[in-house]
Amino acid sequence: MTEAKFRLTEKDYRYLFENASDAMWVQDMEGNFLDGNRALEKLSGYTLEELAGKNITQFLSDEFLALAKEVQRRLLAGEDIDQPYEQRFLVKGGRMRIVKMATNPLIINGEVKGFQHVARDITEERQLQENMRFYVHQVTRAQEDERKRIARELHDDLAQPLLLLTQGLDFLSSTTRKKLSDAELKQSLEKLRSQAIDTLEGLRRYAQDLRPPILDHLGLLAALEWMAEDLAKKHGIDARVKVLGSERSLPAEVELLLFRIAQEALTNTRRHAEASRARITLEFGDDKVVLTVNDNGKGFKLPRRLGDLASVGKLGLAGMQERARLIGGRLELQSEVGKGTTVTVEVPV
Ligand SMILES: Nc1ncnc2c1ncn2[C@@H]1O[C@H](COP(=O)(O)OP(=O)(O)OP(=O)(O)O)[C@@H](O)[C@H]1O
Ligand SMILES: [Mg+2]
Repeated sequence: MTEAKFRLTEKDYRYLFENASDAMWVQDMEGNFLDGNRALEKLSGYTLEELAGKNITQFLSDEFLALAKEVQRRLLAGEDIDQPYEQRFLVKGGRMRIVKMATNPLIINGEVKGFQHVARDITEERQLQENMRFYVHQVTRAQEDERKRIARELHDDLAQPLLLLTQGLDFLSSTTRKKLSDAELKQSLEKLRSQAIDTLEGLRRYAQDLRPPILDHLGLLAALEWMAEDLAKKHGIDARVKVLGSERSLPAEVELLLFRIAQEALTNTRRHAEASRARITLEFGDDKVVLTVNDNGKGFKLPRRLGDLASVGKLGLAGMQERARLIGGRLELQSEVGKGTTVTVEVPV
C-alpha cells in the first residue's frame, strides 16, 4: 500500500471484523473458541456468549474433523494448502452448513497460539446448483420422452393413414382390378380425398401443438387468445385475455418464453385446479411487461422452493421459473388452498 494518509485504530479494525459479512473466528490450539463476529453467530446459530464455552470439534463430523486437523497440520508444517477450501459444519439444531473457508495460524510473539478462520456460507448456493443439475437432468429426460412420444404419434397418426391412402391409390391404379363405373370411381376418389384431408388436419394440429404458427405470425397476444379459446372450447373453462397498456411487439424470444409460461400455467389450471374460470392478463409498462395467469380453482400449498418440486419430478413450475430467468424476468407464485392460483411473470424490456 502507498503511504497511509491516516491510520486505522484498533477500534476501526474491530468494527470491520464485527461487521464483515463472512464469519470470522479465532480458536486456540485445542479448538476452543476465543473470539468471533456477528456473521459467525448467524452461521452457527449460537450467540458469541454461547460459543465462548464451546469447542470447534462439536461442530464437525468425523470426516470433516479429519479435514480440519489435516489443514492445521499442514499449516504448522509450513506446507501449502489450497485456500479457500470447502468445509462442512453441523450447526445448531443439527443443520448442515457448507462453507468456503480460509485458515491461518494465529501467531503471537512469534509463537503459534491457535488458528484464525474466515468462512463464507455457500449452502444455499450449493443447494440451488444441485437442484439446477437435477432439473437439467430431468428436463433432458423429459425431452427424450417427448421425442419418443412424437415419433410414436407421428407413426400412428400420420404414417398409418398415409399408408392406407397409398394402398387405396394403388388399388385404383392397378390394371388387374375389376372395371369400376364412373360413379364408383368418383366415390372411391372422394373417400381417398377425405382421408387425405383428415391426415392433413392431423398434421396441422400437430404443428400447432409443437409451435403455434400464430405466435410467429400474429404475436403473443393473438397466441394467448387462441389458447384461451381452446381452453374454453375443449375444457369448458371460461378463459379470457385482458390487455393493459398499449400493446407492442416484444423480442421474439420474450414472446416465445412468455407464451410457454402461460401454456404451462394453463395446463396446470386444466389438470389440477378444477377451476371454472381463468384470466390471462398482459400488461405493457414503459420498461416491462407483466404476464399474469390466474384461476379460481382449488389452489395448493406452495413449496418452500420451486427447485424442490423439480427434485420430485414436477417440472412445470420450476420450468416456468427457469424460463422467466432466461429472459431476465422474475416469476411469482401465489396460491392458497381453496382460493385459486396466480402466476405472475415480470420481464424488463
Ligand atoms: N393452478 C393450480 N391449481 C392447483 N394446483 C396446482 C396448480 N398449479 C400447480 N398445482 C400443484 O402444484 C404441483 C406442481 O406443479 P407442476 O406444474 O410443477 O408439476 P405437475 O403439473 O404435477 O407436473 P408437470 O408439470 O411436470 O407435468 C401440481 O402437481 C399441483 O399439485
Ligand atoms: Mg404442470
